[in-house]
Amino acid sequence: MTGSSPRAQLDRLWQRGREFLGCEFAIMGGAMSWVSERHLVAAISNGGGFGVLACGSMTPALLSEEIAATEQLTRQPFGVNLISMHPELEALIAVCIEHRVGHVVLAGALPSTVSIRRLKDGGVRVMSFAPALAIARKLARMGVDALIIEGNEAGGHVGPVSTSVLAQEILPEVRDIPVFVAGGIGRGEAIVSYLEMGASGVQIGTRFVCATESIAHPRFKRAFIKAGARDAVASVQLDPRFPVIPVRALANEATRRFLDTQREVIARYYSGELTQKEAQLEIEHFWAGALRRAVIDGDAETGSLMAGQSVGMVTQEQPTKQILTELVAQAEATVERRRRQWAGDDALLSVGSPTETKEATG
Ligand SMILES: Cc1cc2nc3c(=O)[nH]c(=O)nc-3n(C[C@H](O)[C@H](O)[C@H](O)COP(=O)(O)O)c2cc1C
Repeated sequence: MTGSSPRAQLDRLWQRGREFLGCEFAIMGGAMSWVSERHLVAAISNGGGFGVLACGSMTPALLSEEIAATEQLTRQPFGVNLISMHPELEALIAVCIEHRVGHVVLAGALPSTVSIRRLKDGGVRVMSFAPALAIARKLARMGVDALIIEGNEAGGHVGPVSTSVLAQEILPEVRDIPVFVAGGIGRGEAIVSYLEMGASGVQIGTRFVCATESIAHPRFKRAFIKAGARDAVASVQLDPRFPVIPVRALANEATRRFLDTQREVIARYYSGELTQKEAQLEIEHFWAGALRRAVIDGDAETGSLMAGQSVGMVTQEQPTKQILTELVAQAEATVERRRRQWAGDDALLSVGSPTETKEATG
């Protein structure tokens, strides 16, 4: 490593991820429903990262429009995130192939071999989420081109295991395809640590919500800027008979009411007023439309403020390019510090500048 610039050292560390994504920095902008639309996605790709459109519940026609609009805003590569349980998944896949989208992330559930095959036959690189080593191996056998491992610190739907443990379990074992690490990443130092452990790149969501180009409502952004790590909590399940898919979001009136609703619905089930199926549906219905209400309408009280624990490192609204530049500068400073440590140049070391602190509300 001696003698090369910090950027050259960093480029070597994430070369595999850069090549796979076709961009300058192996930093994926994690797809966030309602937030990751044309403007933020194009800004991330134009800034040297890799933007990913969130299809969410869009129809095939809407997705097609969104891809075309994003293409108008950037000539750089970007991907599309599809939810595997979407009732029109096959038509959405056809839209991605028609538009010659380079990369599709299949999220939400284990994808089918048929979906993977169709995308690959259509010339699309397929990525998917691996919440455990056994699933990572299975997805690799199924032909997925790259994996994302996302820990419990992340915003949105989360698994039970932390990013640091998933990384230790999966990165040393899965070498044949690139692996991107997500969940809780807010600074460049963390990016370098995962790259050194064998990751090809990272995926970041929360840190991009308050980008100037993000269309999230000012009240949604304000809630992020005010919040500390401990305000981003995973939803709680009250009764094992009524499963709740954990979602990490900022605590607000909705998260409190969700507990009351569960209590009340479960009581009606035990009194015989509701069947188990009816009760489960009432619980699931609670969050319908809640993310849109928060992101688009700015309802920070009864909407869902999905956010990861790295929200504590979001201190202001900033242009996307500046966020990427900061992350890369922190990563470069880290590789340079490591090089000097190895060279025994300890006297020259200084740690990276801290994230501006803010009052945690929790
Ligand atoms: C508001 C919000 C919405 C999200 N929506 C989706 C989604 O639609 N599909 C998906 O695969 N992941 C979704 N995620 C997860 C992100 O793509 C990303 O993996 C995650 O934010 C990374 O962790 P971090 O928030 O700690 O950076 C969402 C996250 C947030 C914060």
